Amino acid sequence: MAAKVIVGAQWGDEGKGKITDIMAETATAVVRYQGGNNAGHTVVVNGDEFKLHLIPSGILHEDTLCIMASGTIIDPNCMKDEIEGLRERGFSCDNLLVSVNAHVIMPYHRVLDGLQEQSRGNKSIGTTKRGIGPTYTDKTARMPRSIRMADLLDDDTLRSMIDDQLAQKNVLIRALYGAEPLDAGEVYDEIAPALDVVRPHIADVRGDIRNALENGELVLEGAQGTFLDLDYGTYPYVTSSHPVAGGACLGTGVGPTEIDEVIAIVKAYTTRVGAGDFPTELHDKTGERLRERGAEFGTTTGRPRRCGWLDGVALRTAAEINSATGIAITKLDVLDEEETIRVATAYEIDGERYERMPENLDMLGEVKPVYEEMPGWQTSLCEVTALEDMPDEARRYVDRMAELADCDIWCVSVGPARDQTIIL
Ligand code: IMP
Repeated sequence: MAAKVIVGAQWGDEGKGKITDIMAETATAVVRYQGGNNAGHTVVVNGDEFKLHLIPSGILHEDTLCIMASGTIIDPNCMKDEIEGLRERGFSCDNLLVSVNAHVIMPYHRVLDGLQEQSRGNKSIGTTKRGIGPTYTDKTARMPRSIRMADLLDDDTLRSMIDDQLAQKNVLIRALYGAEPLDAGEVYDEIAPALDVVRPHIADVRGDIRNALENGELVLEGAQGTFLDLDYGTYPYVTSSHPVAGGACLGTGVGPTEIDEVIAIVKAYTTRVGAGDFPTELHDKTGERLRERGAEFGTTTGRPRRCGWLDGVALRTAAEINSATGIAITKLDVLDEEETIRVATAYEIDGERYERMPENLDMLGEVKPVYEEMPGWQTSLCEVTALEDMPDEARRYVDRMAELADCDIWCVSVGPARDQTIIL
Protein backbone atom coordinates (compact mmCIF):
# COMPACT_ATOMS: atom_id res chain seq x y z
CA MET A 1 0.00 0.00 0.00
CA ALA A 2 1.63 3.23 -1.14
CA ALA A 3 0.73 6.54 -2.71
CA LYS A 4 3.10 8.76 -4.64
CA VAL A 5 2.40 12.33 -5.70
CA ILE A 6 3.83 13.80 -8.88
CA VAL A 7 3.93 17.56 -8.64
CA GLY A 8 5.34 20.32 -10.82
CA ALA A 9 7.98 22.35 -8.95
CA GLN A 10 7.91 25.38 -11.27
CA TRP A 11 5.30 27.09 -13.47
CA GLY A 12 4.06 23.95 -15.22
CA ASP A 13 5.42 22.14 -18.29
CA GLU A 14 8.11 20.42 -16.24
CA GLY A 15 7.64 17.10 -18.03
CA LYS A 16 5.27 15.45 -15.57
CA GLY A 17 3.61 13.45 -18.37
CA LYS A 18 6.74 11.48 -19.13
CA ILE A 19 7.46 10.73 -15.47
CA THR A 20 3.83 9.71 -14.85
CA ASP A 21 3.99 7.37 -17.82
CA ILE A 22 7.10 5.72 -16.37
CA MET A 23 5.60 5.37 -12.89
CA ALA A 24 2.33 4.07 -14.36
CA GLU A 25 4.04 0.89 -15.49
CA THR A 26 4.13 -0.48 -11.95
CA ALA A 27 1.16 1.43 -10.50
CA THR A 28 -2.29 -0.01 -9.83
CA ALA A 29 -3.83 3.34 -10.71
CA VAL A 30 -2.89 6.83 -11.87
CA VAL A 31 -5.25 9.49 -10.56
CA ARG A 32 -5.29 13.06 -11.79
CA TYR A 33 -6.21 15.35 -8.93
CA GLN A 34 -6.87 18.84 -10.35
CA GLY A 35 -7.12 21.01 -13.44
CA GLY A 36 -8.67 20.28 -16.78
CA ASN A 37 -7.60 20.51 -20.40
CA ASN A 38 -5.45 23.54 -19.70
CA ALA A 39 -2.69 20.97 -19.18
CA GLY A 40 -0.60 19.42 -21.90
CA HIS A 41 1.32 16.19 -21.52
CA THR A 42 3.61 14.83 -24.19
CA VAL A 43 4.71 11.22 -23.96
CA VAL A 44 6.93 9.50 -26.52
CA VAL A 45 6.62 5.72 -26.80
CA ASN A 46 8.71 3.82 -29.38
CA GLY A 47 9.14 7.04 -31.36
CA ASP A 48 5.39 7.71 -31.34
CA GLU A 49 4.35 11.01 -29.78
CA PHE A 50 1.16 11.24 -27.71
CA LYS A 51 -0.16 14.65 -26.71
CA LEU A 52 -2.82 14.59 -24.03
CA HIS A 53 -4.52 17.46 -22.25
CA LEU A 54 -6.99 15.77 -19.97
CA ILE A 55 -6.57 12.03 -19.71
CA PRO A 56 -3.77 10.95 -17.35
CA SER A 57 -0.57 9.92 -19.11
CA GLY A 58 -0.94 6.49 -17.45
CA ILE A 59 -3.56 5.60 -20.08
CA LEU A 60 -0.83 4.12 -22.28
CA HIS A 61 -0.54 1.22 -19.80
CA GLU A 62 -3.74 -0.74 -20.27
CA ASP A 63 -3.39 -2.68 -17.01
CA THR A 64 -3.23 0.54 -15.02
CA LEU A 65 -6.48 2.16 -14.00
CA CYS A 66 -6.65 5.85 -14.94
CA ILE A 67 -8.94 8.08 -12.94
CA MET A 68 -9.92 11.73 -13.26
CA ALA A 69 -10.81 12.44 -9.64
CA SER A 70 -13.34 14.87 -8.20
CA GLY A 71 -10.82 17.72 -8.07
CA THR A 72 -10.53 17.79 -11.85
CA ILE A 73 -12.84 19.54 -14.29
CA ILE A 74 -13.86 17.95 -17.56
CA ASP A 75 -14.61 19.32 -21.01
CA PRO A 76 -16.70 16.47 -22.50
CA ASN A 77 -15.67 17.26 -26.07
CA CYS A 78 -12.00 17.21 -25.18
CA MET A 79 -12.48 13.90 -23.35
CA LYS A 80 -14.27 12.44 -26.37
CA ASP A 81 -11.54 13.61 -28.78
CA GLU A 82 -8.80 12.14 -26.62
CA ILE A 83 -10.60 8.81 -26.14
CA GLU A 84 -11.23 8.53 -29.89
CA GLY A 85 -7.67 9.57 -30.73
CA LEU A 86 -6.27 6.93 -28.38
CA ARG A 87 -8.63 4.26 -29.72
CA GLU A 88 -7.49 4.98 -33.26
CA ARG A 89 -3.96 4.23 -32.08
CA GLY A 90 -4.90 0.95 -30.42
CA PHE A 91 -5.58 1.99 -26.80
CA SER A 92 -9.05 0.89 -25.68
CA CYS A 93 -9.46 3.43 -22.83
CA ASP A 94 -11.46 0.73 -20.99
CA ASN A 95 -9.19 1.53 -18.04
CA LEU A 96 -10.43 5.16 -17.80
CA LEU A 97 -12.83 6.40 -15.13
CA VAL A 98 -14.02 9.90 -14.26
CA SER A 99 -15.57 10.87 -10.96
CA VAL A 100 -19.30 11.60 -10.82
CA ASN A 101 -18.35 14.71 -8.84
CA ALA A 102 -15.91 16.28 -11.29
CA HIS A 103 -17.41 19.53 -12.53
CA VAL A 104 -18.07 19.96 -16.24
CA ILE A 105 -16.50 22.70 -18.34
CA MET A 106 -19.45 23.90 -20.39
CA PRO A 107 -19.32 26.04 -23.55
CA TYR A 108 -20.46 29.09 -21.54
CA HIS A 109 -17.43 28.71 -19.24
CA ARG A 110 -15.15 28.97 -22.24
CA VAL A 111 -17.01 32.05 -23.49
CA LEU A 112 -16.76 33.66 -20.05
CA ASP A 113 -13.04 32.85 -19.81
CA GLY A 114 -12.47 34.74 -23.08
CA LEU A 115 -14.64 37.68 -22.04
CA GLN A 116 -13.02 37.96 -18.62
CA GLU A 117 -9.55 37.91 -20.13
CA GLN A 118 -10.54 40.65 -22.57
CA SER A 119 -11.97 42.76 -19.77
CA ARG A 120 -8.71 42.52 -17.79
CA GLY A 121 -7.00 44.54 -20.54
CA ASN A 122 -3.26 44.86 -19.92
CA LYS A 123 -3.68 42.95 -16.64
CA SER A 124 -4.81 39.81 -18.45
CA ILE A 125 -3.51 36.54 -17.00
CA GLY A 126 -2.89 34.83 -20.31
CA THR A 127 -5.24 31.95 -19.49
CA THR A 128 -5.53 29.02 -21.85
CA LYS A 129 -9.15 30.13 -22.53
CA ARG A 130 -10.37 26.61 -21.85
CA GLY A 131 -12.96 27.78 -19.31
CA ILE A 132 -10.91 26.73 -16.28
CA GLY A 133 -11.41 29.81 -14.06
CA PRO A 134 -15.18 30.17 -14.63
CA THR A 135 -15.78 26.43 -14.00
CA TYR A 136 -13.90 26.43 -10.70
CA THR A 137 -15.59 29.72 -9.82
CA ASP A 138 -19.02 28.09 -10.19
CA LYS A 139 -17.82 25.17 -8.09
CA THR A 140 -16.54 27.29 -5.20
CA ALA A 141 -19.49 29.69 -5.44
CA ARG A 142 -21.72 26.62 -5.00
CA MET A 143 -23.82 27.84 -7.89
CA PRO A 144 -27.19 26.10 -7.76
CA ARG A 145 -27.34 23.39 -10.38
CA SER A 146 -23.71 23.61 -11.47
CA ILE A 147 -23.20 20.70 -13.82
CA ARG A 148 -21.14 17.73 -12.65
CA MET A 149 -20.28 14.57 -14.55
CA ALA A 150 -23.18 12.65 -12.97
CA ASP A 151 -25.56 15.18 -14.52
CA LEU A 152 -24.44 14.17 -18.00
CA LEU A 153 -26.01 10.76 -17.51
CA ASP A 154 -29.56 11.93 -18.10
CA ASP A 155 -30.58 14.11 -21.07
CA ASP A 156 -33.60 15.76 -19.41
CA THR A 157 -31.63 16.69 -16.31
CA LEU A 158 -28.84 18.07 -18.42
CA ARG A 159 -31.14 20.16 -20.61
CA SER A 160 -32.94 21.67 -17.64
CA MET A 161 -29.63 22.44 -15.90
CA ILE A 162 -28.34 24.19 -19.01
CA ASP A 163 -31.53 26.29 -19.05
CA ASP A 164 -30.98 27.27 -15.41
CA GLN A 165 -27.32 28.05 -15.91
CA LEU A 166 -27.92 30.20 -18.95
CA ALA A 167 -30.63 32.18 -17.15
CA GLN A 168 -27.80 33.50 -14.93
CA LYS A 169 -24.86 33.41 -17.30
CA ASN A 170 -26.62 35.31 -20.07
CA VAL A 171 -27.32 38.20 -17.69
CA LEU A 172 -23.59 38.38 -17.02
CA ILE A 173 -22.61 37.93 -20.64
CA ARG A 174 -25.00 40.67 -21.80
CA ALA A 175 -24.90 43.19 -18.98
CA LEU A 176 -21.29 43.01 -17.85
CA TYR A 177 -19.53 42.20 -21.10
CA GLY A 178 -22.05 43.46 -23.69
CA ALA A 179 -21.71 40.19 -25.57
CA GLU A 180 -24.26 38.00 -27.35
CA PRO A 181 -26.27 35.69 -25.06
CA LEU A 182 -25.99 31.95 -25.63
CA ASP A 183 -28.82 29.69 -26.74
CA ALA A 184 -29.56 26.69 -24.50
CA GLY A 185 -30.36 24.40 -27.42
CA GLU A 186 -27.06 25.25 -29.12
CA VAL A 187 -25.13 24.69 -25.90
CA TYR A 188 -26.72 21.24 -25.54
CA ASP A 189 -26.06 20.43 -29.21
CA GLU A 190 -22.42 21.36 -28.79
CA ILE A 191 -21.79 18.78 -26.11
CA ALA A 192 -24.36 16.17 -27.19
CA PRO A 193 -21.98 14.32 -29.56
CA ALA A 194 -19.60 13.68 -26.65
CA LEU A 195 -22.18 12.14 -24.35
CA ASP A 196 -22.24 8.58 -25.71
CA VAL A 197 -18.46 8.37 -25.63
CA VAL A 198 -18.04 9.89 -22.18
CA ARG A 199 -20.94 8.31 -20.25
CA PRO A 200 -19.54 4.76 -19.87
CA HIS A 201 -16.52 6.22 -18.03
CA ILE A 202 -18.48 8.17 -15.40
CA ALA A 203 -18.28 6.36 -12.06
CA ASP A 204 -18.29 6.59 -8.29
CA VAL A 205 -14.52 6.24 -8.03
CA ARG A 206 -14.12 6.30 -4.25
CA GLY A 207 -13.93 2.50 -4.02
CA ASP A 208 -11.64 2.25 -7.05
CA ILE A 209 -9.15 4.67 -5.53
CA ARG A 210 -9.25 2.83 -2.20
CA ASN A 211 -8.81 -0.60 -3.84
CA ALA A 212 -5.92 0.63 -5.93
CA LEU A 213 -4.26 2.05 -2.83
CA GLU A 214 -4.77 -1.10 -0.81
CA ASN A 215 -3.60 -3.44 -3.55
CA GLY A 216 -0.50 -1.72 -4.82
CA GLU A 217 0.80 1.69 -5.69
CA LEU A 218 -1.30 4.71 -6.42
CA VAL A 219 0.20 7.56 -8.43
CA LEU A 220 -1.48 10.92 -7.91
CA GLU A 221 -0.71 13.12 -10.89
CA GLY A 222 -0.79 16.91 -10.66
CA ALA A 223 -1.11 19.24 -13.61
CA GLN A 224 0.44 22.73 -13.95
CA GLY A 225 2.95 23.55 -11.20
CA THR A 226 3.51 24.87 -7.69
CA PHE A 227 3.74 28.54 -8.70
CA LEU A 228 0.47 28.35 -10.63
CA ASP A 229 -1.34 27.21 -7.47
CA LEU A 230 -4.25 29.41 -6.47
CA ASP A 231 -2.87 29.87 -2.94
CA TYR A 232 0.88 29.34 -3.27
CA GLY A 233 1.49 30.60 -6.78
CA THR A 234 2.22 34.06 -8.13
CA TYR A 235 -1.36 35.28 -7.65
CA PRO A 236 -3.30 36.47 -9.62
CA TYR A 237 -1.23 34.99 -12.47
CA VAL A 238 -2.19 31.46 -11.48
CA THR A 239 -4.67 28.78 -12.37
CA SER A 240 -7.86 28.24 -10.34
CA SER A 241 -6.96 24.93 -8.71
CA HIS A 242 -4.34 23.43 -6.40
CA PRO A 243 -1.46 21.81 -8.25
CA VAL A 244 0.62 21.56 -5.01
CA ALA A 245 0.96 18.16 -3.32
CA GLY A 246 -1.70 19.13 -0.76
CA GLY A 247 -4.10 19.38 -3.70
CA ALA A 248 -3.65 15.64 -4.23
CA CYS A 249 -5.42 14.99 -0.92
CA LEU A 250 -8.17 17.51 -1.65
CA GLY A 251 -8.72 16.31 -5.17
CA THR A 252 -8.76 12.56 -4.58
CA GLY A 253 -9.81 11.93 -0.98
CA VAL A 254 -6.54 10.16 -0.17
CA GLY A 255 -5.43 11.43 3.25
CA PRO A 256 -2.01 13.01 3.89
CA THR A 257 -0.60 10.17 5.99
CA GLU A 258 -1.21 7.74 3.15
CA ILE A 259 1.21 9.57 0.89
CA ASP A 260 4.70 8.22 1.25
CA GLU A 261 6.51 9.88 -1.60
CA VAL A 262 6.25 13.27 -3.25
CA ILE A 263 8.29 13.58 -6.42
CA ALA A 264 8.77 17.17 -7.49
CA ILE A 265 9.34 17.42 -11.22
CA VAL A 266 11.82 20.13 -12.10
CA LYS A 267 13.12 21.13 -15.48
CA ALA A 268 16.87 21.86 -15.60
CA TYR A 269 15.97 25.45 -16.49
CA THR A 270 12.75 27.44 -16.06
CA THR A 271 9.81 28.23 -18.34
CA ARG A 272 6.56 30.06 -17.91
CA VAL A 273 3.53 30.57 -20.20
CA GLY A 274 1.21 33.51 -19.73
CA ALA A 275 1.77 36.65 -17.68
CA GLY A 276 3.35 37.11 -14.24
CA ASP A 277 6.74 37.67 -12.61
CA PHE A 278 9.61 35.42 -13.60
CA PRO A 279 12.84 36.47 -11.86
CA THR A 280 15.30 34.39 -13.94
CA GLU A 281 13.70 35.06 -17.33
CA LEU A 282 16.15 35.55 -20.21
CA HIS A 283 15.35 38.02 -22.96
CA ASP A 284 18.42 37.23 -25.03
CA LYS A 285 19.90 34.66 -27.37
CA THR A 286 20.35 32.15 -24.54
CA GLY A 287 16.61 32.31 -23.81
CA GLU A 288 15.88 31.79 -27.50
CA ARG A 289 18.29 28.86 -27.64
CA LEU A 290 16.61 27.18 -24.66
CA ARG A 291 13.21 27.69 -26.35
CA GLU A 292 14.41 26.15 -29.61
CA ARG A 293 16.39 23.27 -28.10
CA GLY A 294 13.68 22.52 -25.55
CA ALA A 295 10.81 22.95 -28.09
CA GLU A 296 9.26 25.29 -25.57
CA PHE A 297 5.96 26.02 -27.25
CA GLY A 298 2.71 25.38 -25.34
CA THR A 299 1.16 21.94 -25.93
CA THR A 300 -2.29 23.42 -25.35
CA THR A 301 -2.11 26.87 -26.92
CA GLY A 302 1.04 26.72 -29.06
CA ARG A 303 2.29 29.92 -27.39
CA PRO A 304 6.07 30.33 -27.14
CA ARG A 305 7.09 29.74 -23.53
CA ARG A 306 9.17 32.32 -21.70
CA CYS A 307 12.53 30.74 -20.82
CA GLY A 308 15.17 31.39 -18.17
CA TRP A 309 17.82 29.87 -15.92
CA LEU A 310 17.00 27.50 -13.12
CA ASP A 311 15.55 29.40 -10.18
CA GLY A 312 16.97 27.64 -7.13
CA VAL A 313 15.00 29.91 -4.80
CA ALA A 314 11.76 28.77 -6.42
CA LEU A 315 12.97 25.15 -6.33
CA ARG A 316 13.82 25.34 -2.61
CA THR A 317 10.43 26.94 -1.90
CA ALA A 318 8.55 24.39 -4.00
CA ALA A 319 10.34 21.48 -2.30
CA GLU A 320 9.22 22.89 1.07
CA ILE A 321 5.60 23.61 0.05
CA ASN A 322 5.23 20.13 -1.38
CA SER A 323 7.28 18.22 1.24
CA ALA A 324 9.18 16.77 -1.69
CA THR A 325 10.92 13.49 -0.95
CA GLY A 326 12.70 13.44 -4.30
CA ILE A 327 13.19 15.42 -7.47
CA ALA A 328 12.83 14.23 -11.04
CA ILE A 329 15.08 16.38 -13.18
CA THR A 330 13.87 16.74 -16.76
CA LYS A 331 15.28 18.08 -20.00
CA LEU A 332 18.87 18.16 -18.76
CA ASP A 333 20.00 17.53 -22.35
CA VAL A 334 18.59 20.92 -23.41
CA LEU A 335 21.60 22.48 -21.64
CA ASP A 336 24.10 20.30 -23.56
CA GLU A 337 25.52 23.17 -25.62
CA GLU A 338 25.84 25.79 -22.90
CA GLU A 339 29.37 26.89 -22.09
CA THR A 340 28.34 28.36 -18.75
CA ILE A 341 25.16 27.67 -16.84
CA ARG A 342 23.71 30.06 -14.30
CA VAL A 343 21.56 29.11 -11.32
CA ALA A 344 19.82 31.61 -9.06
CA THR A 345 20.57 30.56 -5.49
CA ALA A 346 19.09 33.59 -3.70
CA TYR A 347 17.18 36.81 -4.38
CA GLU A 348 18.19 40.30 -3.37
CA ILE A 349 15.69 43.03 -2.65
CA ASP A 350 17.02 46.43 -1.52
CA GLY A 351 20.28 44.81 -0.51
CA GLU A 352 18.52 42.18 1.61
CA ARG A 353 19.05 38.52 0.78
CA TYR A 354 16.16 36.04 0.47
CA GLU A 355 16.64 32.29 0.39
CA ARG A 356 13.03 31.44 -0.40
CA MET A 357 10.37 33.08 -2.51
CA PRO A 358 8.79 35.99 -0.61
CA GLU A 359 5.18 35.46 0.33
CA ASN A 360 4.51 39.11 -0.44
CA LEU A 361 4.14 38.84 -4.17
CA ASP A 362 4.52 42.59 -4.75
CA MET A 363 8.20 42.00 -3.92
CA LEU A 364 8.69 39.37 -6.59
CA GLY A 365 8.79 41.93 -9.39
CA GLU A 366 11.61 43.74 -7.54
CA VAL A 367 13.94 40.84 -6.88
CA LYS A 368 17.42 40.55 -8.34
CA PRO A 369 18.48 36.92 -8.69
CA VAL A 370 21.88 36.14 -7.17
CA TYR A 371 23.51 33.83 -9.68
CA GLU A 372 26.03 31.08 -9.26
CA GLU A 373 27.90 30.11 -12.45
CA MET A 374 28.69 26.54 -13.29
CA PRO A 375 30.68 25.23 -16.26
CA GLY A 376 28.61 23.46 -18.93
CA TRP A 377 29.47 19.94 -20.20
CA GLN A 378 29.17 20.74 -23.93
CA THR A 379 28.56 17.19 -25.01
CA SER A 380 25.42 15.23 -25.72
CA LEU A 381 23.79 13.49 -22.76
CA CYS A 382 21.06 11.83 -24.77
CA GLU A 383 22.60 8.35 -24.58
CA VAL A 384 23.78 8.45 -20.99
CA THR A 385 22.13 5.70 -18.94
CA ALA A 386 23.79 6.10 -15.53
CA LEU A 387 24.74 9.07 -13.37
CA GLU A 388 28.29 7.69 -13.10
CA ASP A 389 28.67 7.99 -16.88
CA MET A 390 27.78 11.66 -16.96
CA PRO A 391 30.47 14.26 -17.51
CA ASP A 392 31.59 15.71 -14.14
CA GLU A 393 30.06 19.10 -14.98
CA ALA A 394 26.61 17.56 -15.55
CA ARG A 395 26.92 15.46 -12.41
CA ARG A 396 27.80 18.58 -10.40
CA TYR A 397 24.80 20.39 -11.87
CA VAL A 398 22.26 17.70 -10.92
CA ASP A 399 23.83 17.38 -7.47
CA ARG A 400 23.49 21.13 -7.03
CA MET A 401 19.80 20.89 -7.97
CA ALA A 402 19.27 18.18 -5.35
CA GLU A 403 21.13 20.30 -2.79
CA LEU A 404 18.92 23.32 -3.50
CA ALA A 405 15.79 21.18 -3.16
CA ASP A 406 17.33 19.45 -0.12
CA CYS A 407 16.17 16.02 -1.24
CA ASP A 408 17.28 13.01 -3.25
CA ILE A 409 17.28 12.68 -7.01
CA TRP A 410 14.55 10.26 -8.13
CA CYS A 411 15.46 10.35 -11.81
CA VAL A 412 17.17 12.41 -14.48
CA SER A 413 15.65 12.65 -17.94
CA VAL A 414 17.98 13.24 -20.88
CA GLY A 415 15.56 13.01 -23.80
CA PRO A 416 11.88 12.52 -24.60
CA ALA A 417 11.87 8.71 -24.89
CA ARG A 418 11.06 6.39 -21.98
CA ASP A 419 14.52 4.83 -22.11
CA GLN A 420 16.24 8.22 -21.94
CA THR A 421 15.60 8.28 -18.21
CA ILE A 422 18.13 7.51 -15.52
CA ILE A 423 16.12 6.18 -12.57
CA LEU A 424 17.97 6.04 -9.28
P1 IMP B 1 -5.85 28.81 -16.89
O1 IMP B 1 -5.44 27.62 -16.09
O2 IMP B 1 -6.24 28.49 -18.30
O3 IMP B 1 -6.88 29.62 -16.18
O4 IMP B 1 -4.56 29.76 -17.03
C1 IMP B 1 -4.01 30.44 -15.90
C2 IMP B 1 -2.49 30.54 -16.03
O5 IMP B 1 -1.92 29.25 -15.91
C3 IMP B 1 -2.00 31.07 -17.39
O6 IMP B 1 -0.81 31.82 -17.17
C4 IMP B 1 -1.66 29.81 -18.16
O7 IMP B 1 -0.67 30.04 -19.16
C5 IMP B 1 -1.11 28.94 -17.04
N1 IMP B 1 -1.27 27.51 -17.30
C6 IMP B 1 -2.41 26.79 -17.23
N2 IMP B 1 -2.15 25.50 -17.50
C7 IMP B 1 -0.84 25.40 -17.74
C8 IMP B 1 0.04 24.31 -18.04
O8 IMP B 1 -0.36 23.13 -18.14
N3 IMP B 1 1.34 24.63 -18.22
C9 IMP B 1 1.82 25.88 -18.08
N4 IMP B 1 1.05 26.93 -17.78
C10 IMP B 1 -0.27 26.69 -17.62
